[in-house]
Amino acid sequence: NKVVLAYSGGLDTSVIVRWLQDTYGCEVVTFTADIGQGEEVEPARAKAEALGVKEIYIDDLREEFVRDFVFPMFRANTIYEGEYLLGTSIARPLIAKRLIEIANETGADAISHGATGKGNDQVRFELGAYALKPGIQVIAPWREWDLNSREKLMQYCEQHEIPVDFSSSKKKSPYSMDANLLHISYEGGTLEEPWAEAEEDMWRWSVSPEAAPDKPAYITLTFEQGDPVAIDGERMSPATLLEKLNKLGGANGIGRLDIVENRYVGMKSRGCYETPGGTILLRAHRAIESITLDREVAHLKDELMPRYAQLIYNGYWWSPERRMLQAAIDDSQSVVNGEVRLKLYKGSVTAVGRRSADSLFDERIATFEDDAGAYDQKDAEGFIKLNALRLRIAAGKGRELT
Ligand code: ARG
Ligand code: SIN
Repeated sequence: NKVVLAYSGGLDTSVIVRWLQDTYGCEVVTFTADIGQGEEVEPARAKAEALGVKEIYIDDLREEFVRDFVFPMFRANTIYEGEYLLGTSIARPLIAKRLIEIANETGADAISHGATGKGNDQVRFELGAYALKPGIQVIAPWREWDLNSREKLMQYCEQHEIPVDFSSSKKKSPYSMDANLLHISYEGGTLEEPWAEAEEDMWRWSVSPEAAPDKPAYITLTFEQGDPVAIDGERMSPATLLEKLNKLGGANGIGRLDIVENRYVGMKSRGCYETPGGTILLRAHRAIESITLDREVAHLKDELMPRYAQLIYNGYWWSPERRMLQAAIDDSQSVVNGEVRLKLYKGSVTAVGRRSADSLFDERIATFEDDAGAYDQKDAEGFIKLNALRLRIAAGKGRELT
């Protein structure tokens, strides 16, 4: 038997390779993906080889990640619990999908990952895997072994002569981190005290709003069918565009978040996030929708959004209900075309202009000046009276309102 492991090349997942080989006596296939975490993925090849791995997959999934996962999610203006932009949550279904594809290609009957038994990630990987291949076996070492400290892991390395160099700088970070093109996250360490402010040097992608330039930066984002396609008129691929927005946002102190969230497994967890590009994109997408979407469509989207966010957070990307919601969301986006002008300044993003050939904004009707008969103010009288009818009936019967 054979198992496909989501392999980062770091200490934890390298120990998992050897542990799987020893404990299950199975052939391990490693899969390492570049989803824009900002670290080289190629070194994972030599590390896997040194561990005796024969089938090594290293994929650049950056474009697929942004095009097929991040952008579809942003069409819904998705936020979990009012704040979290789901940077980690949205990457997991892609990893699950690739794990299963590779299992099919290599004839593996199991998959494995390095997520702990306490978090959301295990749920997301495994729900995805079962949904895409019902007979798949899952091995989650963190739920089985007793190597629950860094020290024990190091010890295991020595005992099993795991020939890998782990002195890379990321390993010294006191936080549990996860990064991709949408965000970087920090959990654990000093953040486990919810009252304590995060240290300034924790943040890696953005300057603090205080240290950001005193002059605002202006950019224009172009949308086609709900997705951003160009910055300042220059067309670029989804991954390139998001990367550029991250740079612009980071330089202006945009997209920092410090929250306590509810994990699907039941506990509260404190996390800090940097989502510079995503924060800009959310504001811009809402602005272009504000002139192109029908009011009831927009409001219905807003009602569905928390459900859609929860389903992604909880790991149900590969589910019939996500498909159903996505179809409705995508259907609304055919008219979401045009341009938004944004002002980036010391941690804030403001939409300062919007225009579209599909705009429903009618100056003639909205104006406070003479509308030349475009709107008959007399119509409003009956509109208000009929809407007041039930209120007047109740008041007439003496119903109390205070
Ligand atoms: N709490 C966030 C989420 O559930 C981030 C998880 C970070 N994952 C990690 N392996 N460090 O989406
Ligand atoms: C983990 O437990 O592996 C990371 C945190 C999470 O999945 O929520």
